[in-house]
Amino acid sequence: MTSKPRTMLITSALPYANGPIHLGHLVEYIQTDIWARFQRLCGNHAIYVCAEDAHGTPIMLKARNENIAPETLIERIGTEHRRDFSDFNIAFDNYYTTHSEENRYFAEYIFEQLSTNGHITKRTITQAFDPVEQMFLPDRFIRGSCPRCDAPDQNGDNCEVCGATYVPTDLTDPVSVISGATPVSKNSEHYFVQLADFDGMLREWTGSDRLQSEVRNKLAEWFDAGLRDWDISRDAPYFGFEIPGSNDKFFYVWLDAPIGYMASFRNLCDKSDLDFDSFWGKDAKTELYHFVGKDILYFHTLFWPALLHGGGFRTPTAVFTHGFLTINGQKMSKSRGTFITARAYLDHLEPDCLRYYFAARLNNRVEDIDFNVDDFVSRVNSDLVGKVVNIASRCAGFIEKRFSGQLSARLPDPALYQHFVDANQVICNAYEGREFSRAIREIMALADQANQYINACQPWVIARDENRDGELQAICTQGLNLFRILMIWLAPVVPALAERSAAFLRCPIGENGTLGNIPSPLTDHQIEPFNRLLNRIELRDAQAMMDQTQMIEQIEEPAASTTHLIDEPVAEQITIDEFAKIDLRIARVSSAETVEGADRLLRLTLDLGGETRQVFAGIKAAYAPDALVGRHVIVVANLAPRKMRFGVSAGMILAASGDDDAGGIFLIEPNQGAEPGMRVR
Ligand code: MSP
Ligand code: ZN
Repeated sequence: MTSKPRTMLITSALPYANGPIHLGHLVEYIQTDIWARFQRLCGNHAIYVCAEDAHGTPIMLKARNENIAPETLIERIGTEHRRDFSDFNIAFDNYYTTHSEENRYFAEYIFEQLSTNGHITKRTITQAFDPVEQMFLPDRFIRGSCPRCDAPDQNGDNCEVCGATYVPTDLTDPVSVISGATPVSKNSEHYFVQLADFDGMLREWTGSDRLQSEVRNKLAEWFDAGLRDWDISRDAPYFGFEIPGSNDKFFYVWLDAPIGYMASFRNLCDKSDLDFDSFWGKDAKTELYHFVGKDILYFHTLFWPALLHGGGFRTPTAVFTHGFLTINGQKMSKSRGTFITARAYLDHLEPDCLRYYFAARLNNRVEDIDFNVDDFVSRVNSDLVGKVVNIASRCAGFIEKRFSGQLSARLPDPALYQHFVDANQVICNAYEGREFSRAIREIMALADQANQYINACQPWVIARDENRDGELQAICTQGLNLFRILMIWLAPVVPALAERSAAFLRCPIGENGTLGNIPSPLTDHQIEPFNRLLNRIELRDAQAMMDQTQMIEQIEEPAASTTHLIDEPVAEQITIDEFAKIDLRIARVSSAETVEGADRLLRLTLDLGGETRQVFAGIKAAYAPDALVGRHVIVVANLAPRKMRFGVSAGMILAASGDDDAGGIFLIEPNQGAEPGMRVR
């Protein structure tokens, strides 16, 4: 703390502007934000920037599907992202976009530097081309049968059934996911960065302390395999920056994405008195850190340093890589109902609680971490509420009621206070080394000691004896001072709680440099009346978030996939026995009503001939409830019941649906004479 303040620029990976922020993303933004806030707490000058990653084929196609300009799409998604980040208290100094003039400038500049110095080469390559859409197809937009095991409808680059990896041209009967047409092969000239030119520089850069050891090992494999040329161009149509001097070629999104870090910072410089060159110039003395997920390691540890070096800029001080988030042990996916968006979380729970939970699970290795709902609830309740906030609530009442909010002039147990002060170095080292779980363990062990102190002193017993007022005030002052130190340490993790605590204690807690205040206790000081600082998490709120998440899947995903279905080949063959497992029944709609809070759902009561069922159906757009009563429908009677926010849905009714926007939903109705309960086969 006495050492000279450091100056550093910190980044998180730029989220793609084509989908919502989810809990997986938040692992990264929360991890980075905690680290940046910790640096500021130490008194360092830490600048944290990020941006929307706005270019590329998926964004172009999504905009096209919605019939809007890509600029409109990235604007809308960008606004949602900003709101999510701000509601999670991610304290960016600047949040920009890669679709900006600053970014175009640096992308062109770096490209020109590379060209001038002979690091760019042009070559004609053959790629899959969609003859209907008149566009080249990225691998993920081609599907077909696996060349090894014949499994139908596999990705363009790997088979989910047998695990084979291949190139899209190897697929038997490939189809374009966009048009359904059979792709043809077509030649096109592409620009490549000769990465091998940077082999020496990269080996040196990656060999030092800049990377975690697991990451260094991974890189050693890549070096051994030899660095291959990197294709940085894409043909029109493409949403991105046109390559200067080319004929309708665009920079590949991954060329200009990391350059977006610079562009965001440049944009910040123009709004402040920061000097661009002292952060990015070749001889910059400031520190530069990138936080990224393990899936984008290659881009940040090979391409990015090569681009920077080739462009005549400094290279990063370090790249910090984290693992992936799973939900209750499962990969995040819409069809599993584990795709928890930032918004679904915020609809039910406090941002600080997730920040705390992630901190308690994060370390400095590339390990995956799990969000387990039950563990989340019990961890937050027992640590934050049960241990930390509890200290304040046990002491605050006496200070307020008996001493008009005045803390005593001295601490009764200075040794205990000093014991806390002495722990500072260990906790700071853990934070600095991104061992957040270790920092949290240390802090909670001290919280236990603070509670033990209060247990041993029994202020509630002392309070009965008016002659022991001084003692009572001192004990509570001690307790609140220990609480204050704990909150200063926790401030990077739980900024909103820290802010409420600062207001209660009327002292700085999460502000820049506050760590330096730890050695001097708060004595002879007036505090505010105590209001509840943090509520326990109710399991039912966490459950409501999960239910909402599963509903997204149930209502939105079938609609999304129908868009593809029209062009898509028929699903994998099944046997008659497999079909027989599906128990379809005739049912009569005995009542139908809208569901408050659900845009697309109707609640149906179905008579299956002797059995009554409640089923939620996403058909509100096409059917008025009254028009349904008395009609016959077909229901999947043996579908596992599904718990939704509004109740249990015990089955599913059959309907045909066309294109989403056409609003076409068509219930399947049996011919006259079919009675409720009859089996359909
Ligand atoms: N746009 C690129 C990054 C460009 S950086 C110059 C990208 N975007 S992303 O939206 O897919 O991911 C943003 C970050 O979130 C990445 O670091 C990625 O690893 C991380 N995560 C995305 N899903 C994740 C989990 N399920 N778990 C943890 N991190 C995850 O990649
Ligand atoms: Zn296969």
